[in-house]
Amino acid sequence: KQNRKAIIAGNWKMNKTATEAKALISELIPAVKDAGCEVVICVPFTDLVTAVEMTKGTNIHVGAENVHFEKSGAFTGEISADMLTDLGVEYVVIGHSERRQYFAETNETVNKRTKAALAGGLKPIICVGESLDQREQGVTEELVRMQVKIALNGVTADELKNVVIAYEPIWAIGTGKTATADQAEEVCAAIRKVVGELYGEDAAKALTVQYGGSMNPKNAEELLSKPDVDGGLIGGASLKADQFAVIVDAA
Ligand code: G3P
Repeated sequence: KQNRKAIIAGNWKMNKTATEAKALISELIPAVKDAGCEVVICVPFTDLVTAVEMTKGTNIHVGAENVHFEKSGAFTGEISADMLTDLGVEYVVIGHSERRQYFAETNETVNKRTKAALAGGLKPIICVGESLDQREQGVTEELVRMQVKIALNGVTADELKNVVIAYEPIWAIGTGKTATADQAEEVCAAIRKVVGELYGEDAAKALTVQYGGSMNPKNAEELLSKPDVDGGLIGGASLKADQFAVIVDAA
């Protein structure tokens, strides 16, 4: 793990008004200031300005929760990579299972968004993961390999340095059901393996692979102790400064 960056990222999802964000970020700043890992908060578009302003000069990095793949133009309601980087946003979550499930996101649109994000100077956190049915069918590894391959189609080796991949088993998201540390390790290692096949060993070794899905103060340490789990993408527990800080300390 030595040459890899551990990243703990909060994914606030559709939570926190700008007013509420202000309160949470003021609690977060002191709570994570001594972090030994990279700390990111991915927040709703409407909270981005507040988050960027408030975290200037701190160790907290800011991310968005989605980005459109076109550069600009007649795409009512969408937000481009340039709009995000201009604000000072650094990361963006791409292909979260909630977007795949409710907003018709596909592997192909994930790929387009990934390339647009990278071209615009953002660091994509690409989410992959299987449903419960898929796990029970035994296709998890095949499926995740395919999701990773399609997401990275056309991404250069140089661009890959700015890519983070998050393994989020859908059945573990918001359910309180966490993958066991061994299950998380198995799939995170498979992700690193497929990246190695595509970009070579060194690139695979340098890639940050996160686990996401009901990670909390109690299970974080065990999950993060696994050799191929380099961090976490945290939903529910990222909305409470004290809980998020415990996870950050575990990394
Ligand atoms: O992106 C984070 C995520 O989907 C996990 O959510 O609430 O299970 O930690 P949660």
